[in-house]
Amino acid sequence: MGVRNGILMEEAGTIPSTPLARARLNLLKLHLSLQGVRFRAGLRWSCWWSGGALTAGSRLGVHHKTIFQGLGSVQIGDDVTLGYALAGFLGTPIILQPRLPAAKIVIGNGSAIMNGCCFCANEEIRIGAMCRIGANCYIVDSDFHGIRPDERDTPGKTAPVVIEDNVWLGVSAVVLKGIRVGKDSIVGAHAVVTKDVPNGAIVAGNPARVVGSAYDRPSDLRTEPGE
Ligand SMILES: CC(C)(COP(=O)(O)OP(=O)(O)OC[C@H]1O[C@@H](n2cnc3c(N)ncnc32)[C@H](O)[C@@H]1OP(=O)(O)O)[C@@H](O)C(=O)NCCC(=O)NCCS
Repeated sequence: MGVRNGILMEEAGTIPSTPLARARLNLLKLHLSLQGVRFRAGLRWSCWWSGGALTAGSRLGVHHKTIFQGLGSVQIGDDVTLGYALAGFLGTPIILQPRLPAAKIVIGNGSAIMNGCCFCANEEIRIGAMCRIGANCYIVDSDFHGIRPDERDTPGKTAPVVIEDNVWLGVSAVVLKGIRVGKDSIVGAHAVVTKDVPNGAIVAGNPARVVGSAYDRPSDLRTEPGE
């Protein structure tokens, strides 16, 4: 039983049947909690090393390597999850990068940020409560280069990004400067968001376009026969 299978068994609520399997599961739990301690220490260390400021609410779970880079601040709410052993991109850390001293990254209560995400802020990236940010997503509040050839070494256009509550970003989605992603909306896998997303909209593609509404969809939950 590997690490991932062990987690799958836990998720499925399966109790291993033999003493050896139970011992392996307990070892796995110990391994994961020690890893969590290491990842949390790494986050704090990288923040101190960068000269930034990190505040975190209660029950922060750091389940993947997470690196703080920058002179600004990161504010993390309660019950936030950083990384997950089954989310893929195991070799890519989460990067929280408030570059400038006044730059801010805010992550709301109950949100989950998956492996390989990179948030780069010159001003502000604000993620609401209960958001699911899929693996390898890239959120930037700046172009980081000017458009004109003679302005390439300037920071370019910069404007804050707001991801409202209960938003789900699919794997490898990109959200660019100045975007508001409305509450309850979904950004499809690999979408590049260049325009505001209305509340509850489902957007996909590059550049992302509205392809549906989460509010109009029937439930995906299975019902028992006869119900
Ligand atoms: C390409 C880019 C520099 C253009 O910036 P801009 O001139 O401000 O562009 P705008 O936001 O005004 O968009 C102009 C049009 O191009 C589209 N567009 C912009 N960026 C796009 C992208 N990355 N992919 C697809 N379409 C894009 C917009 O949807 C808009 O389309 P429309 O005319 O149909 O409405 C910018 O959008 C971008 O991709 N920045 C990210 C830079 C980056 O990755 N920096 C970090 C590491 S160096």
